[in-house]
Amino acid sequence: MSQQLPSEHAILRIVARPTDVNADGDIFGGWLMSQGDIAGSIVATRYVKGHVVTVAATNFRFIKPVLVSDIVSLYGKVKHVGTTSITISLDVYIERKAHDYDFIDKVAEAEFVYVHIDKQGKPIPIQAI
Ligand SMILES: CC(C)(COP(=O)(O)OP(=O)(O)OC[C@H]1O[C@@H](n2cnc3c(N)ncnc32)[C@H](O)[C@@H]1OP(=O)(O)O)[C@@H](O)C(=O)NCCC(=O)NCCS
Repeated sequence: MSQQLPSEHAILRIVARPTDVNADGDIFGGWLMSQGDIAGSIVATRYVKGHVVTVAATNFRFIKPVLVSDIVSLYGKVKHVGTTSITISLDVYIERKAHDYDFIDKVAEAEFVYVHIDKQGKPIPIQAI
């Protein structure tokens, strides 16, 4: 059964293209992880208002396959703020062109951890907001 997209704004929306497939013709998991890192870093950067680097990608779960021409939407929120690190949880949904975009499904979820760094690349505290 088709799901509904979350009510909040997607952090990132992108169409899966033929150049994003693996040797078997399926969308490459690494492509989706890369989109997840981009989306997570947007949420983290907005929060810390500064430079972050990815320190870990955890709990990445590929729930359903992504197909070429699917619209892929990534939703993210701050899950935890540590001293210098910030954890972003992501949910990934698709709208399927092959079903006139009426078919919506959650295809992945993940957590990314970022560290707030200074110009020398050293971790610095995240200011409470
Ligand atoms: C991220 C980096 C700056 C951390 O430097 P560090 O001196 O090892 O920092 P620390 O050990 O003090 O850890 C910093 C924070 O990251 C957290 N952290 C470190 N490793 C982690 C992991 N595997 N999972 C989750 N959190 C982690 C620590 O718990 C700490 O969080 P806190 O301050 O909120 O308690 C450094 O490892 C680095 O530059 N890594 C490369 C980053 C990068 O280039 N990413 C892109 C890869 S293409």
